[in-house]
Amino acid sequence: MISRRFTISVDSCRPGMRTAETIVNKYGAVILYENVTLDERAIERLKNMGIQYISVFEDSMLSVSGMDREWAITDDGFSFNVKYEQDVHTIKMIFADISAGKRLDKDITDQVVDSMVIMPQQNRHVVDAVMQTRRIDEYTYYHCVNVAMLSMMIARWMNLDESMVRKCTEAGLLHDVGKARVPVEIINKPGKLTESEFEEMKRHSEYGYMIAMQDRRIDPDVATAILTHHEKEDGSGYPLGLTGDKINQIAKIVAVSDIFDAMTANRVYKYKDTPFKVFEIMQHSSFGVLNPLVLNSFLNKMTHYYVGSRVRLSTGETAEVVFMNRMDFSKPVVRVEDRFIDLAVAKKVSIEEFL
Ligand SMILES: [Fe+2]
Ligand SMILES: [Fe+2]
Repeated sequence: MISRRFTISVDSCRPGMRTAETIVNKYGAVILYENVTLDERAIERLKNMGIQYISVFEDSMLSVSGMDREWAITDDGFSFNVKYEQDVHTIKMIFADISAGKRLDKDITDQVVDSMVIMPQQNRHVVDAVMQTRRIDEYTYYHCVNVAMLSMMIARWMNLDESMVRKCTEAGLLHDVGKARVPVEIINKPGKLTESEFEEMKRHSEYGYMIAMQDRRIDPDVATAILTHHEKEDGSGYPLGLTGDKINQIAKIVAVSDIFDAMTANRVYKYKDTPFKVFEIMQHSSFGVLNPLVLNSFLNKMTHYYVGSRVRLSTGETAEVVFMNRMDFSKPVVRVEDRFIDLAVAKKVSIEEFL
């Protein structure tokens, strides 16, 4: 049986994994041939050569980490990262199939959703994954996986039943699937879109709805959430201009995850905001845009995960976030060695960078 190939980051590589491609450096010289079993030295070499991602065979990945179906219930970051990269790879394949004119297959999206919803206590890893720098050309795939996991977390924080948790996860995973029908030059364009390009980009919601409706097994509420994830509470969103009372709960949850992931992501044309700034913007400028109940559930829980983060201050010093300020998440209390600084009081000092 031929084993599937998975693209994983070199940081997640472990001795015993087998290469599923010939790896070359930027001059075309071979570093490692296909079907070579990695050892510590080979992994070190890949890192030294600046290689970030390689393709490995799935069977070698599973044997190394001792993973089978049960692997999903382990709680170490390594298992999470391998699964995360697999999910990114799967959504990339889904996009490729749809671009090639194939129909969406719910069996495949179910596999991803299943593995996400059975994995407990992964919030810490999700937060770390969302904060990773992403390759620009792969941005959309990582974004879909992140939005799926964040939507699942919000649904749980809101105490929704498991069937709703699944629907939110699935809608998050597929919310931007319509982008598979938008020209790639528009999707990956580094600069600002022209008006007509932006109009085309906006059509991804409708394209996504049509793609989802091709598989009758997809829940109509999930398809509707894909169509309406850019609607706003005050009716100023697209494509239908629906007001909050007409937008389903799944779409409201996906909208919050979508905005958070997009705003914290590192992209070529805009340096990412720190998560603290993003929380502050979401709290203070989302009136009429995001649903307040969903947003509060998100902010109440998500901000906890950023206590303990390391940041660089405008003074150049490195600090640790020790206490969140609920009135303004961009101004937490931080600790620099043994000094505590309340950024809400020390007005001249701000957070410059998330480390
Ligand atoms: Fe979207
Ligand atoms: Fe999105």
